[in-house]
This record gives sequence, C-alpha cells and structure tokens, in this order.
Amino acid sequence: MSTEADAIWQAIEDYPARPLAKLFADDDARLEMLSHRLDLGDTDILFDFSKTHLDAGLLGLFHDLAKAMHLAGMRDQLLAGAKINISEDRAAEHPAERGTGAADAVRQADALHMRMAALVSAIDEGVFGDIKHVLHIGIGGSALGPKLIVDALARDGDRYDIAVVSNVDGAALSEAVSRFDPSRTLVAIASKTFTTTETLLNANSAIEWLRASGVEDPYGRLVALTAAPEKAAEWGIDETRILPFSDTVGGRYSVWSSIGFPVAMALGNEAFAAFRAGAAAMDAHFASAPLERNLPVLAAFVDLYYAQARRCQTRAVFAYDERLRLLPDFLQQLEMESNGKRVLRDGSALTRPSSPIVWGGVGTDAQHAVFQLLHQGTHLTPVEFIAARLPDHEFDAEHHQILLTNCFAQGSALMTGKASDDPQRSYPGDRPSTTILLDTIDPKSLGALVAFYEHRTFANAMLLGINPFDQFGVELGKEIAKSIGERQSGDFDPSTRALIEAAGL
Ligand code: F6P
Repeated sequence: MSTEADAIWQAIEDYPARPLAKLFADDDARLEMLSHRLDLGDTDILFDFSKTHLDAGLLGLFHDLAKAMHLAGMRDQLLAGAKINISEDRAAEHPAERGTGAADAVRQADALHMRMAALVSAIDEGVFGDIKHVLHIGIGGSALGPKLIVDALARDGDRYDIAVVSNVDGAALSEAVSRFDPSRTLVAIASKTFTTTETLLNANSAIEWLRASGVEDPYGRLVALTAAPEKAAEWGIDETRILPFSDTVGGRYSVWSSIGFPVAMALGNEAFAAFRAGAAAMDAHFASAPLERNLPVLAAFVDLYYAQARRCQTRAVFAYDERLRLLPDFLQQLEMESNGKRVLRDGSALTRPSSPIVWGGVGTDAQHAVFQLLHQGTHLTPVEFIAARLPDHEFDAEHHQILLTNCFAQGSALMTGKASDDPQRSYPGDRPSTTILLDTIDPKSLGALVAFYEHRTFANAMLLGINPFDQFGVELGKEIAKSIGERQSGDFDPSTRALIEAAGL
C-alpha cells in the first residue's frame, strides 16, 4: 500500500469522532448529507447512513483514500470489462450480464439470456411434459443467489415449485425430493466449473431418484447451468439443455447469468429481466454518482471506518422482512469469500484487517435472541437493517406496522441508549446502524439491492488494495478431503487420523 494511503489511514484512525447524538445536534443538514434515495422509476430505495459516525471530516479523509487507491479508475476498469481479476488473469464481467460494460461482453451475455429465455418458454409450453417442480442443485455462489431471490419473490410457488439443494448431506436432497413428484420434476445442475464434488454427487443421486421412481429417461430431465459446457456435455447432458455463461463471471456474482435459471422459472422471463434491469440501474448509479453520494462507496466508507478505525471484527445484518431472511447467508459468501484475504493485489502482505465477519438474522426474531449483546455487550458491532415499506401478505396491516416500528426502534435505541443509576439497566448508546428501506420487494428493487452489495464489496476491496474476485483459500480443505477419501491417512496429524479411525472411514 502506498505511503500516501498509509498516512490517510492514520488520519482516519486518529480522527476525533463525535458521538452520534452530537453529530445530529451539531449539523442540521446531516440527513441531507448521509441519507439518499436511489430512484428506480416506479419505485425507490432509501439508504440512510446518518446513524453512523461518518461526518464531513471523515468523508473528506475517505475521499482522499479513494483518490490514493484509484477507486474511480478501478471502478471504470471493472465496468469496462478490463482484466481486473489479476491473480486469475481475467475480467469480472458480472455487470455485462445486466447490460453494463463492453459491447462484446454485453452482446454475448444477451445472446445467452435469449437462449435461456427460450428454454424457459419451451418448458412453460409443455415441451418437457407437465413440469411442476424444479430441483436446483448447486453450492456456494451456484446456490445462494437463486435461493435468496426465489425465497424472496416466489413464496407462492405459482409457476413452479423450486427447491435448492446444496449440502452434500443426503438429508438435504431427501427433504427436497420428498415433496416432489418425480414425473413432473426437472433437475437443474448449477456449477460454474462442473467439477464440484457436492454438486455432482447430489446430481447423480437425483438421477438415481428419478430412475428409481420410474422416469424412463432421467438424463432428458437435466438442465446444466455452467461456464464449462464441454464438461456438462461429457457428463451426458444434451447440448440443447446446457445453458452456458462466461467464466469471467465469478460464482458469488453469478445470479444474473444462467445460474439464475430457477429465478426465471419461478418468476418468468419478464421478471428475471426486471431483476437484471434493477441491477443495471445500480451499475449506472455506481458508475456516475459523485463519490459523496455514491451509495456503494458510502457504504464501503462506513464498513471500513468500523473495521479499521474502530477495529470491529464483525458486522451484523438484520432483514426486517421474512422475504429477505436469506440475505445474511448470501452476504456472508459475497463479502467473506471476496474480501477475506491476507495479501494485496501485488502479493505483498495486507497489514490491516480484511473483511469483517458478516452475521445476522431476521427481525423481529433476532431481537429476542441476540440483540442483548448489541445493546449492552462489550463488542461494538455496526448493524444494518433492511426493511420494505409495503408488506406482501393477507393479514392485518398491524403486522407490518409492528415489524417496521421495531426495526426503527432498534436503530434509535442503539444510537440514543439510556442512562440509569443502575448499571444493569443502563444502555451506553452511540452504537451505529445503517438502514436500507425498500419501497417494495419486487424483482427490480432486489436486483438493485444485490448489485449494491456487489459494488460495495468491490469498493471495500479497492480501498484496501485486495482482489475480491479469487478464492484460493477454499482449495486446501478440498485437497485434504480428497486425500482422506483416497485413504492417504498416513500423512495426517494424530488428531485427524484418530477422527478418521473413530468414524470408520
Ligand atoms: O469452494 C468455493 C466455490 O468455488 C465458490 O466460489 C463457488 O461459488 C462454489 O465453490 C461452487 O462452485 P461451482 O459453481 O464451480 O460448482
């Protein structure tokens, strides 16, 4: 990292941050500075960073850091499809999947989307018979995005009933197929590399389940979603049912590509296009909004302030909406697999904390489980609340009112605290939170929200100087599992050897 950046980090760490209550008292224009709406045409999203310790002075320092770390230039390179993933010598072209970026990459992604839309329409028209169920098999980035979006937007299962199976534990597959009629099931095998052990084993077992249930041609029920179409073909899947995507799209950034097939199946082609259009709107904002009003950039400033200057080791995300209950799971992979790194882009050591640990849950449940620690524990944890103004259920409006009032009450309580003569009953307050309020949870808003998180993760990485697009850290465990599987236990430490023996492997 440059000495210029080091000096700015030092200034950020030494900055005499004022208490949140004082920041509001001192500045009438605080909301205007730190609360912004993203206009999506017929809907919008409000991002409120005002309950964090950012102020004009800190914003100035982070702008200096952004300049020293060439954030704007790196963003332009990302969006132009430059080879920004240097350790793997390739671009990171997930934005092209929603129409943002170099013309060639966008054209190629568009053609693949048309192909997928044609397959979805053919299934709708009954080409594969009376299909009702889609068993989506994938893991990590090949599961978490589709699972989040299907769970958020297709709870009624109106078009197709979708199950996403990721875990290699057969209990997961067993549970999913127990509610499916095999004669009406399609199996989507989602794997960027088409080599992932868990996914291929689950896929084989799903084929066996189809066969054992009397489906004559189980292979005729398979759809492959992959950046390695030749491997899917070798595996026996017909070329017409292989939906490829570019290997420049990272797994955790791939929900926009054919990995989003179950989303298109669950919601229809139009809604999947709206989901991508929402992301494109966030791309356009990220590309052009000035840094002081640029939402992913402001969010990254907040993240870095707490992770670096306040040394917070975690950040907590609470969705005050049942439809977004899987958001923390999705963000864990996005942020921790992207930015859990120990070296800079040039391979030299990262000398400051990398990604905070992301955890969270759903409100109001979490209030009755973990919020005690947030209010009175000794850890300082920046909290993010996500809610939607409009509900989507048939019950009394009171449900949603209570949900939202609780969400806003928590942010207020964390910030203001409450003094008491009794230390047990005293709340220190001055605890930061960010609130993201969607107007409604629809494909376009969710597309914009997920793209916001992607760009925020990228901005964090650029300001630290790391590469968010590789994940070499996950390889060693895979290698060792393979050796154990091959009974090469002689090489293991005594503890691992004893465990292998105890389990009878
Ligand atoms: O093991 C980590 C990982 O490589 C993730 O990055 C990826 O999303 C997941 O495994 C699944 O990989 P694939 O899509 O190639 O099956």
